Amino acid sequence: MSRTVALVPAAGVGSRIGNGCPKPYRRLGQRPLIGYVLETLGECAEVDRIVVIVSAEEQEFCREKIIPTCNLHKPWQLVVGGAQRQQSVYNGMKAIQGLADTVVVHDAARPLISLQLLQECIFEAKKCGACIVGVPVRDTLKKVGERDIIDKTIPRSHLWMAQTPQVFHYDLLWNAHQKALQEYFQGTDDSVLVERLGLPVKMIRGSYKNIKVTYPEDLLLVESWLVEEKEQAEEEP
Ligand code: C5P
Repeated sequence: MSRTVALVPAAGVGSRIGNGCPKPYRRLGQRPLIGYVLETLGECAEVDRIVVIVSAEEQEFCREKIIPTCNLHKPWQLVVGGAQRQQSVYNGMKAIQGLADTVVVHDAARPLISLQLLQECIFEAKKCGACIVGVPVRDTLKKVGERDIIDKTIPRSHLWMAQTPQVFHYDLLWNAHQKALQEYFQGTDDSVLVERLGLPVKMIRGSYKNIKVTYPEDLLLVESWLVEEKEQAEEEP
């Protein structure tokens, strides 16, 4: 039987977004930001286990005060993250060795992932080994050089912005992390590590609402989209 484990990196240190509260735990409506991610992973029948990757200082707070409010009805565990996101995911991978065939990586800071998209990404990754969610770039891209002068304009026709979820066969992502570690390569997502193995990663089209909450204004955006979703749900018969 295939076992799918979700890793939720939530150990970012520069993640204070006002109020002195670590970003994943900032309240948004009824629950903390990470609660939206855990709810969707909790509802996803394909996900068997959830691993939340937290900083050492926030481990107890997350275990005692956050997870119990998230209504999780499947096995979960906390793992302490590292200095970079890549190391946090690697720590998660180490913790589930032998427990997973497929691994779903989804940032705690992206609360608006839809269940349907998550399922589609898992389905594709199981078929082809690696699948991630992203959206085509909408703006015109400029490479800017010395004294803020534009060097060139980069045609955007094949450019996408990578998001999470990113889903992989466990062994594939494990090998990709090992190679990155040996070669001192630091990436900003997991896909790039697999791309470096020379293996194909499928991209599926996600949503422009699946933003990574980074700045206070992002919270306002997410809040307004959540209100909109709630209103739509109430209007449905
Ligand atoms: O740093 P970045 O904005 O790419 O973070 C994306 C996600 O990775 C966030 O949910 C953050 O908490 C997590 N992260 C982590 N460990 C780090 C840095 C970031 O788990 N050292």
